[in-house]
Amino acid sequence: MSQVYVFTQFGGPETENLIDRPVPQPGPGELAVEVRAAGVTPADWKTRSGRYGTDQPLPLPMGHELSGVITAIGADADGFAVGDEILGLAAPGHGAFAEHTIVLAVDAVAKPEEISFTDAATIPVTAAAAYDATHQVELEPGQTLLILGAGGGVGLMAAQIGRVHEFTVIGIASESKRAVVESAGATFIPAGGDVAARVRREAPAGVDLIVDLVGGDALHEVADLVTDPTRIISAADPATAIELGGAGLRRTPEAMAKITSVIEYGLVDPHVSALYALERAGEAIAAVENGHVTGKVVLQMLHTAAS
Ligand SMILES: NC(=O)c1ccc[n+]([C@@H]2O[C@H](COP(=O)([O-])OP(=O)(O)OC[C@H]3O[C@@H](n4cnc5c(N)ncnc54)[C@H](OP(=O)(O)O)[C@@H]3O)[C@@H](O)[C@H]2O)c1
Repeated sequence: MSQVYVFTQFGGPETENLIDRPVPQPGPGELAVEVRAAGVTPADWKTRSGRYGTDQPLPLPMGHELSGVITAIGADADGFAVGDEILGLAAPGHGAFAEHTIVLAVDAVAKPEEISFTDAATIPVTAAAAYDATHQVELEPGQTLLILGAGGGVGLMAAQIGRVHEFTVIGIASESKRAVVESAGATFIPAGGDVAARVRREAPAGVDLIVDLVGGDALHEVADLVTDPTRIISAADPATAIELGGAGLRRTPEAMAKITSVIEYGLVDPHVSALYALERAGEAIAAVENGHVTGKVVLQMLHTAAS
């Protein structure tokens, strides 16, 4: 048997639970993976809340992004071998917050030796989303990227990618995140109050792209700063971005491999700020659901043979 963290009712965290299940076996196109680490994302609690629908069978395993070691390979899962270290997305219904899970071969990338399992687990959802958010609209070096929610997992990665491309990066976050946002190469602007006026003082001609990781009123407050409203890209609140003339984040299949290379070469860092054991998954999810984490929260699975 193998442990997996699930919820048994859509809604609040009360029905989250660590349960045993048989070690999952791979079907066609699938990889069986011994999970070493899993990134905690807002999508975990949003899925549990029912925001993405309530038609999946319960109990539903939690977690989306992970790293681990392949233990078995299904038919037609080309390009991988047993023992390979990978990062990838948990296959639907299998969960990343688990000792063992299933990953579709098309949703997996070889983990470079240079990247730890912990950092690799932040790539499939979070770093890949930051890559897409900073490439959906192409900017030129020297143009200005404004990141709303710059201190979280996607925001810190997006800021660093922006600096790799030599954009001028302005990051809005709470005061407690000033140092980490500045360490990512961004000019820090504290959230709240007259935030738009503070950004305007930094960028009198406006900004060339807004990457939004917060949405709602906070996005409304800064939207006028962008020179062209089609250059508002929101990962957090596509409806508000569209209302303002922008767009929701479009995910691409290439992003996972591309940002893996950027991390491998040490150009950016996933900023893992907190590690939890699988037994404490509930606390880790609650920390992210609280909405004010710095960087990434990651679960580490302790296997007897783990390196
Ligand atoms: N579509 C996709 O594929 C995709 C993929 C990844 C993420 N997302 C979405 O993108 C959003 C961000 O994800 P994430 O992983 O970066 O979340 P996260 O790690 O929880 O970070 C969110 C950040 O926003 C900050 N924040 C909250 N209110 C703010 C405000 N008014 N002004 C400035 N900052 C504020 C929070 O901290 P402080 O308030 O303390 O500054 C926190 O650091 C989520 O909605 C997530 O669901 C979508």
